[in-house]
Amino acid sequence: MRQPETLATGRSDAGYPLVELSHVDKHYDKLHVLKDINLTVNKGEVLVVVGPSGSGKSTMCRTINRLETIDSGVIRVDGKPLPQEGKELANLRAEVGMVFQSFNLFANKTILENVTLAPIKVRHMDKKEAEDLAMDLLDRVGVASQAGKMPSQLSGGQQQRVAIARALAMRPKVMLFDEPTSALDPEMVNEVLDVMVELAHEGMTMICVTHEMGFARKAADRIVFMADGRILESGTPDEFFDHPKTDRAKDFLSKILTH
Ligand SMILES: Nc1ncnc2c1ncn2[C@@H]1O[C@H](COP(=O)(O)OP(=O)(O)OP(=O)(O)O)[C@@H](O)[C@H]1O
Ligand SMILES: [Mg+2]
Repeated sequence: MRQPETLATGRSDAGYPLVELSHVDKHYDKLHVLKDINLTVNKGEVLVVVGPSGSGKSTMCRTINRLETIDSGVIRVDGKPLPQEGKELANLRAEVGMVFQSFNLFANKTILENVTLAPIKVRHMDKKEAEDLAMDLLDRVGVASQAGKMPSQLSGGQQQRVAIARALAMRPKVMLFDEPTSALDPEMVNEVLDVMVELAHEGMTMICVTHEMGFARKAADRIVFMADGRILESGTPDEFFDHPKTDRAKDFLSKILTH
C-alpha cells in the first residue's frame, strides 16, 4: 500500500456533528426494531456498533443512507435531514459510503469499471479522471494489479477491499461498514481491517458494525452497544470493555470474549 497520500481528509475540521439520529423509531409490522435511537457521530469520529444478533444494528445503518425508512424521529447528515426520494436522495447516498458483509460488486464488470461507474454516472466525472481516481484508490487498498480482472477472479478479501475503494471513489463524508469481514475466510480478515484502520487514522468518519473486538479496541473512538432495538451503552473502548454498566453488555461481552 502506498503511504504518502491519504485515503480521507485530515482531522483539521473535526468535531462537528456529521450524522445525527434523534428519537428514531422503526417497526417492521409489529416488531419494534429501533426504539428512540439518539446518536451523534462527529466528523472524524470512528464509531463501532456492537450487540447481539437481531438488536437492530444493520437496520440502524441502513436508515442512515435511507435504504430503510423510519417511522418517526429525524436523521441528519451534515446538518440536512434525509431527503425522501429523487435526485436529492441519490446525492445523499453519494455522501454516505456503505460496505456490506457480502461483497456486492457488479459481477459482469471489471474491477476498474466497478470503481469508475458511480463517479461517471452520479458525479459526471469524465472517464479518464474517474479511471485515474479509481487506480489511485485501488492502489491504496492494495489491489491495483487486479484492475482488469472480473470480481469472481479475486479473493473475498480483495473483493471487499475493492468494495471499499468503490465507496471511497464517491468521496463520501461518512463510511458505513456492516460486518464487512464476517463473510471472509479468517486469513483475509486482517487485510480488510488494516484498510479500515488506515482510513480511521486518516480522519474518515466511520460507523462500523463489527464483531472484531480487536479492531473495536484499536480503532474506535466510541463504542455503542445495542440490544433489543435500543442503545444501552455508549462509551470509549476502555469504558465499554473494562467497565460495562448494564447486565446485557456484561452478558454479551462474557459470551464473545470467551471464544
Ligand atoms: N426486512 C425486514 N423485515 C422484517 N423484519 C426484519 C427485516 N430486517 C430485519 N428484520 C428484523 O429486525 C430485527 C433487527 O434486525 P437487524 O438485521 O437490524 O439486526 P442486527 O443487529 O443487524 O443482527 P445481526 O447481528 O444478526 O446482523 C430482527 O429481529 C430482524 O429479524
Ligand atoms: Mg446485521
